[in-house]
Amino acid sequence: MSKGGAYSRIGHQERPEFRGGIGSYNPQSDFSNAILSACAFSRFKSCKVIEFLDLMAAAGKVGKEIIEPHAKKTGKNVKISFNDVREEPLLKATDDPERRIACDVKEIADHTSLVFDIVLARYVIKDIPKEQQRKVFEEIKDILMVDAWLRGRLIVADMYTSLASQKAVNLVHSKKQEFAGRKPENEGVCHIPTLAKWKNYALGTDFSSARVTKRTINPVDTQKGWQGQFGKISPEDEARIISELNKVIASACEQWPSFAREYNVRVSRESGVITNVKLDFPIMVMVAEASGKLL
Ligand SMILES: C[S@@+](CC[C@H](N)C(=O)[O-])C[C@H]1O[C@@H](n2cnc3c(N)ncnc32)[C@H](O)[C@@H]1O
Repeated sequence: MSKGGAYSRIGHQERPEFRGGIGSYNPQSDFSNAILSACAFSRFKSCKVIEFLDLMAAAGKVGKEIIEPHAKKTGKNVKISFNDVREEPLLKATDDPERRIACDVKEIADHTSLVFDIVLARYVIKDIPKEQQRKVFEEIKDILMVDAWLRGRLIVADMYTSLASQKAVNLVHSKKQEFAGRKPENEGVCHIPTLAKWKNYALGTDFSSARVTKRTINPVDTQKGWQGQFGKISPEDEARIISELNKVIASACEQWPSFAREYNVRVSRESGVITNVKLDFPIMVMVAEASGKLL
């Protein structure tokens, strides 16, 4: 089993600081509630079991912190499976080996015999290189329930951008990923799609509909919000990385003024030196249905 390339260093995603500064990770956030609404569990009136897949799940925070408590509260029998290219975090996600799908997401249809009612991808597809993103949609389509009751659906909860700011935000995010341990030469570079492109991926791979059900922002204060994002390193190294990233953001604002406006970038300086950066990342929830409506 692949160790996930540079992602093998990303044990820090399970550290509390990793999520502490990113409000949308909070299970009670508007974003988490929008994910739950997108699942629309009330549709499953007569289903004995709802098969749910937490895709590229790491230790399965979405499944365990958002979906599982909701299922318990509402009495739904939701069986959650977890996928990740690394086996190690999946062991933390579940004790049940049948619910661990350890493989590259681009080959998942060959690694499971389950058919899912809901596949959820939170903050992951944008980290797959651009030329491979369509393949991820194709694979997901192949493992979703296709039936007359519109059960099978993919939920993407992720970042999006305008075309004008795309180069800037890709640059900033890929630099952050690089500092987090990703090796661009082996793993490629992340690519944040526009809203239209997110929908096109779904419609272009034969999903019958694609709707954006939530648009909001993830406000980030880089000094606080990005603490814990770069692995087990000293506070000095962490401060140095955040300061480097602040410079990347400030220079992206000069090169692409639309980015500065759209992401509401606020750069603080003291005696000309950047001391902090605040910005608001646009995020969305998209629901793509696998089945066509019966005529
Ligand atoms: C940001 S983390 C997981 C976030 C998680 N979905 C959440 O919302 O809490 C990304 C995960 O994707 C996994 N990953 C990266 N490339 C992958 C691939 N090609 N196939 C499957 N998993 C992959 C990494 O191992 C890592 O655990």
